[in-house]
Amino acid sequence: WRTPHRLLHSLILTFSQHLQAENAPKCTNRPSTLSLSDAPYNNYFYSDCNVAAQAVVTTPQADSDLSIISPRLIVAWPAGNSGACIFFKPQNGANGTLSIELVNSTIGTPLGPVYSAGTKSNNNPSVGVQGVIRFNASAALAVPILGSIRTIRDFVEGPSILYPEIQDAIKYSSDGNGGVSLQRLWLDNVTTTNIRFQPFHNASLGSNNVGGRIELSDQTVSFDAGEYLFSADINYPQLTALEHTSVFNEASRNLTVESPGQATALSFLSYSEKLLAGAWRFLTYFGRDSMISALLLEPVLSDGKGSAMEAVIGAVLERVNRTDGTVCHEETIGDYATWSNAQENITSNAMGCDYKMIDSDYFLPILMERYFLRNPMGQNRTASFFNTSAGTINAANANLTWGSLALTNAERIMRLARPFAEKPTTENLIHLREGQVVGQWRDSTYGIGGGRIPYDVNTALVPAALRAIAALARSGMYPKHRQWATLADQYAKAWEDSTLDLFSVRIPKSQAQDLVKNYANTSFPGPDQASSIDSDVHFHALALQGNDNLSKVEVMNTDDSFRHFLLNTTHDTQLTSFLNQSANNIMRRFPAGLMTDAGMVVANPAFGDDPVYARNWTTGAYHGTVIWSWQLAMMAKGLEMQLGRCEVTSNFSVSSKTDKPLRPVPLPVPAFCTEDSVYGNVKKAYNALWDSIEANSDQLSGEVWSWVYRGGKFEVTPLGVLPAPPGIGGQTG
Ligand SMILES: *[C@@H]1O[C@H](CO)[C@@H](O)[C@H](O)[C@H]1NC(C)=O
Ligand SMILES: *[C@@H]1O[C@H](CO)[C@@H](O)[C@H](O)[C@H]1NC(C)=O
Ligand SMILES: *[C@@H]1O[C@H](CO)[C@@H](O)[C@H](O)[C@H]1NC(C)=O
Ligand SMILES: *[C@@H]1O[C@H](CO)[C@@H](O)[C@H](O)[C@H]1NC(C)=O
Ligand SMILES: *[C@@H]1O[C@H](CO)[C@@H](O)[C@H](O)[C@H]1NC(C)=O
Ligand SMILES: *[C@@H]1O[C@H](CO)[C@@H](O)[C@H](O)[C@H]1NC(C)=O
Ligand SMILES: *[C@@H]1O[C@H](CO)[C@@H](O)[C@H](O)[C@H]1NC(C)=O
Ligand SMILES: *[C@@H]1O[C@H](CO)[C@@H](O)[C@H](O)[C@H]1NC(C)=O
Ligand SMILES: *[C@@H]1O[C@H](CO)[C@@H](O)[C@H](O)[C@H]1NC(C)=O
Ligand SMILES: *[C@@H]1O[C@H](CO)[C@@H](O)[C@H](O)[C@H]1NC(C)=O
Ligand SMILES: *[C@@H]1O[C@H](CO)[C@@H](O)[C@H](O)[C@H]1NC(C)=O
Ligand SMILES: *[C@@H]1O[C@H](CO)[C@@H](O)[C@H](O)[C@H]1NC(C)=O
Repeated sequence: WRTPHRLLHSLILTFSQHLQAENAPKCTNRPSTLSLSDAPYNNYFYSDCNVAAQAVVTTPQADSDLSIISPRLIVAWPAGNSGACIFFKPQNGANGTLSIELVNSTIGTPLGPVYSAGTKSNNNPSVGVQGVIRFNASAALAVPILGSIRTIRDFVEGPSILYPEIQDAIKYSSDGNGGVSLQRLWLDNVTTTNIRFQPFHNASLGSNNVGGRIELSDQTVSFDAGEYLFSADINYPQLTALEHTSVFNEASRNLTVESPGQATALSFLSYSEKLLAGAWRFLTYFGRDSMISALLLEPVLSDGKGSAMEAVIGAVLERVNRTDGTVCHEETIGDYATWSNAQENITSNAMGCDYKMIDSDYFLPILMERYFLRNPMGQNRTASFFNTSAGTINAANANLTWGSLALTNAERIMRLARPFAEKPTTENLIHLREGQVVGQWRDSTYGIGGGRIPYDVNTALVPAALRAIAALARSGMYPKHRQWATLADQYAKAWEDSTLDLFSVRIPKSQAQDLVKNYANTSFPGPDQASSIDSDVHFHALALQGNDNLSKVEVMNTDDSFRHFLLNTTHDTQLTSFLNQSANNIMRRFPAGLMTDAGMVVANPAFGDDPVYARNWTTGAYHGTVIWSWQLAMMAKGLEMQLGRCEVTSNFSVSSKTDKPLRPVPLPVPAFCTEDSVYGNVKKAYNALWDSIEANSDQLSGEVWSWVYRGGKFEVTPLGVLPAPPGIGGQTG
C-alpha cells in the first residue's frame, strides 16, 4: 500500500490484458504453440480457434554481419498474408549493442492470444498475439511496417523499398498508461493493424516495479532498457485451421505424439482453405510448394472431405487461370492485393495470382492421380469434389467448377506436350515464359543460370503429368477426351525416353579431377576430393541455353530426384545408367559430388569450366551450394521407390472404375535390379543419404540452410547470415 496508485495502475494493466482474451469465444482444444530457434532468429508460433500468428525475433549475435542483421520483431498472420514488423536500434551505441528477446511471463510462454470483439465498422474481431519483450539496453524504434508480409519482404529482401502510401498511414499515439501504439488502416479502408508497447509490470520485482519507460515524441519512440508488454492484432477474417487431428490420416495420427514439434508446425501451416508455405516470409498459398508437400506427405495426410489433401488440390484448382489452364504460383491477397490493384489504377481488394511458373501446371494431374485414383477415400470423393463451385476465394473463376478447371489444365498440358512427342528436338522442349528468368523451383534470378529450358520440367514433370493424365482419362475423368487414355501414354513415353540425353554432361575422369582441384584452389577451403573420382563424371545440366552463352548450365544438381520420385521409366539402358550416375553424385563428397556433413547440396558448380559457375552458385545463394530439406526427402523417397521396383513381382493396376476391385498385374522388374554393381550402388547412396538426413535432423524443419567449412567440417549455418553473391538476390531470413 505504499504506492497504491502505482499498484492500482499495474493491476488495471494486468486486468485489461487478461480481459482481452477472456472475451474470446472458447476453444475446445488447447492452443498450439511452438518455438524454433535458429540464431539469430527465434520463431514462436501460436494458434487457437480464434487466431494463428507467428512472432519472429531477430537479435544480432557476436558473429553477425551487422549490415544484414539488426534487432527486429515481426508478427505474421496467415490471414490476409499480414504482418507487423518493427526494427529497433540501440539508442546510444554502435550497431550490435542492443539485444532483444521474448521472455516467458504471465502472458504466455512466450506468446498469449489477443482478442477483442468486432465493431460496427468492422465485424471481424481484432486478433493477434501478445508477450513480453526485453531490451538489454536503451532502444529506439527504427522502422515500422504494418500491413502485408509482402510489404515487409519488399523492404527486407529488396533494395529496402518503403511505400509512402503505406508508411505515411501509420498513426503513433500514447495510450495514457505509459504505452505507445502504432496503428495503420489498410488500403481497403476497413482493416486495421495495431501494435502496442506498454511498460511490463513484473510481479516478482515487487509492487514498485512498473517496467521500463517509453517515450513518444513526434514519430520517435524510445525505450529504456527493460521489459515491455507488446501486443499486435488485426481485424481481418481468419482462416479455418485444420487441427492436429484433422491434418493427419487416422493411421498417422500418433505422429502428433511421436513428432509433436513437426506436427504442430504442419498444423500451423494447414487450413481448410489452403496449405501455406514458408513461415514467416511467405505464409500463404504457393502452388508448387503445397503440391510437392502433399505428394511427399500423402501417406500421412488426412483424406476425405475437409482434409489436408483436398485443401491442397482445391486451393490449386480454385486459382487455375480459367483461360489457359495455368496453375497459380503465388497469390496476392490482403493489403498487398489492394495495393497491387491500385498500381493498375483499379480500386479493388480482389486477390491476384502470379502465373509465371511453368512447372506448377504438371504437379496438378500428378497429385490428382495419386489422390483420386490410388487413395480409396479419394476415389469415393471424386464426383462431389470436382462438382465444387469455384469462385468463393478467387472471384475470377466464378461460374466454373473445380472439375472444369482441372480439364482446362490437362488440355494445356496435352497441347504443350504434343510438339516434342511428335518431333523430339530441343526447340520443342518446354521453355520458360518469354521475358521471365525463373519458372521452376530454383526461382532466384540466377538459380538455373539464366537457362531457358529447365531440366526438371522437361525430363520428369512433363512425362509424369502425361502418365497421370492417361490414368485419369482411363478412369473417366475427361469424358471429352477419351483418346487421352492412350495418347497421353504415347506422349509420355517420348518425353521419358528422349529428353535425358539432351541434358547429359559427361566429363572424362582426369579432366573432372582437374576441375575439382581448380575449384578447391579458387573457391573452397577444404580438400578437393579428386581421388574419389574413379570414373568419368556424369550428370545432367540444370538447364539449357543459359546466360554467358552457356548452351548447357553445367552445374551438378539434385533434380534427378524428380524422375526417381515421379516416374517408373522402362527404357532399361537409360534407367540403369541414370540411377548409377545419380548414386555416384550423391555419395561423392563435395566438391567431387553433392555430399557434405551438413547434407546433400542442391547444386555443385565445380565441374563448370568457366569462373562464372563458382561465382554464382555459392554458399550464400538461395539455390547455390546449399541444402534444401524437401530435396533430401524427395531424393530419399525417389531412390526408395526405384529400389522398390526390384522387390515387387506384381503390382496393383489402377481400376478403371472406382467401384471395381484393384486387379494385380505383373510388372517387369527393371534391368538394374539384377546388375549387382548398380543396384548395390543405388542402395549405398540411399543409405548414405539417410545417414546424412538423420545427422542433420535438427535442420529438417527449415526450408534451406547453408554451411561454412571450418576445422575440417562443413558446419551448418543459416543461409540468411551469409552474403549473397555479387549482383544476386539472396535470401535473408
Ligand atoms: C546500423 O544498422 C542500420 C540498419 O541495418 C544501418 O542502416 C546503419 O547504416 C548502421 N549504422 C552503422 C553506423 O553502421
Ligand atoms: C546487450 O547485448 C549486446 C549483444 O549481446 C551486447 O553487445 C551489449 O553489451 C549488451 N548491453 C548491455 C548493456 O548489457
Ligand atoms: C521478473 O523479474 C525476475 C527477477 O529479476 C526475472 O528473473 C524474471 O525473468 C522477470 N520476469 C519476466 C516475465 O520478465
Ligand atoms: C519458456 O517456457 C517454455 C514452455 O514452458 C519453455 O520450454 C522454455 O524453455 C521457456 N523459456 C525460457 C527462456 O525460460
Ligand atoms: C479508400 O478510401 C479512399 C478515400 O476515400 C478512396 O480513395 C479509396 O478508393 C478507398 N479504397 C477502397 C479499396 O475502397
Ligand atoms: C504409431 O503408429 C504406428 C503405426 O500404426 C506404430 O508403428 C507406432 O508404434 C505408433 N507409435 C506410437 C507412439 O503409438
Ligand atoms: C490467363 O491466361 C490468359 C491467356 O493466356 C492471359 O491472357 C491472362 O492474362 C491470364 N490471366 C492472368 C490473371 O494472368
Ligand atoms: C494509372 O493512372 C495514372 C494517372 O492517370 C497514369 O499515369 C498511369 O499510367 C496509370 N497506370 C496504369 C497501369 O494504367
Ligand atoms: C466409399 O463409398 C462406398 C459407398 O458409399 C462405401 O461403402 C465405402 O466404405 C467408401 N469407402 C471409403 C474408403 O470411404
Ligand atoms: C458469372 O455469371 C454471372 C451471371 O451470369 C455473371 O454476371 C458474371 O459476370 C459471371 N462471372 C464470371 C467471372 O464470369
Ligand atoms: C552470374 O551472375 C551475374 C551477376 O553477378 C550475371 O550477370 C550472370 O548472367 C550470371 N550467370 C549465370 C550463368 O548465372
Ligand atoms: C513405381 O514403382 C514403385 C514400386 O513398385 C511404386 O511404389 C510407385 O508407386 C511407382 N511409381 C509410379 C509413379 O507409378
